[in-house]
Amino acid sequence: MLSRVAKRAFSSTVANPYKVTVLGAGGGIGQPLSLLLKLNHKVTDLRLYDLKGAKGVATDLSHIPTNSVVKGFTPEEPDGLSNALKGTDMVLIPAGVPRKPGMTRDDLFAINASIVRDLAAAAAESAPNAAILVISNPVNSTVPIVAQVLKNKGVYNPKKLFGVTTLDSIRAARFISEVENTDPTQERVNVIGGHSGITIIPLISQTNHKLMSDDKRHELIHRIQFGGDEVVKAKNGAGSATLSMAHAGAKFANAVLSGFKGEKDVIEPSFVDSPLFKSEGIEFFASPVTLGPDGIEKIHPIGELSSEEEEMLQKCKETLKKNIEKGVSFVASK
Ligand code: 2OP
Repeated sequence: MLSRVAKRAFSSTVANPYKVTVLGAGGGIGQPLSLLLKLNHKVTDLRLYDLKGAKGVATDLSHIPTNSVVKGFTPEEPDGLSNALKGTDMVLIPAGVPRKPGMTRDDLFAINASIVRDLAAAAAESAPNAAILVISNPVNSTVPIVAQVLKNKGVYNPKKLFGVTTLDSIRAARFISEVENTDPTQERVNVIGGHSGITIIPLISQTNHKLMSDDKRHELIHRIQFGGDEVVKAKNGAGSATLSMAHAGAKFANAVLSGFKGEKDVIEPSFVDSPLFKSEGIEFFASPVTLGPDGIEKIHPIGELSSEEEEMLQKCKETLKKNIEKGVSFVASK
């Protein structure tokens, strides 16, 4: 006979039978991300794919007594990638190479663009209805790459394509709590724009801390925009943020699954195909989105901005437009 706790766990599993695939599961982000997904009770079928290491990570995680089944897939086995993807509800893509000191996210384009393009093509073939969550940098360009691949294959659903920008909001909450001496778990900062340097715009004017001194605010904004560099520098050649990024990716993935389940008021920021600045030729933009059973239910407007934030937005749009065009023309040119 099942205990009450076991019954509750079992019934919640049956009610939330989500299949999730991680492409790049053997890497620095992929491994902790897969661990966090193994611990997520909404996931019942976890498939891990990578050029190397996915089987080992899968076997390791398979000993954790949550209800999901974990399987590893490699390119050596016939149909390894397509089997990892077939029938999945959500694909997370952390695959690719990380930054080394002195590099910008855009410097990764040369390597990561083709990796993401090829994985997107496989997802289009084997999981055309899945939500795709892009973590691989430069996100400002890799999300447009995925969109273009899906468009070319005739399966593009803008409601189900996401660039994961959660790490920017997480950093913003943490860093603002450090300067204001508050509880980081209670801080919420809307971060809009993109996921790289000056395209990251934390809207401090929309928080409870709008009376912060100019110097303090400028330093805080800079730290949020370039927080990733702190990690790259500290890791000294061994990569960029992996653990905080995995946490961010798992948090966002959980939000997408909560939306699928029909939970109400699931709102997270994400870099998505957005109407907000389309008239200015900017097809993708990060802002808070409401997640629902079919993916994006609503893209929220950015709200009122201070004049300083308006200026940041102008600069962000110039860079973002170039980053997006770079991604689109990369796919178009192949
Ligand atoms: C970061 O913001 C890895 O892009 C990631 O650190």
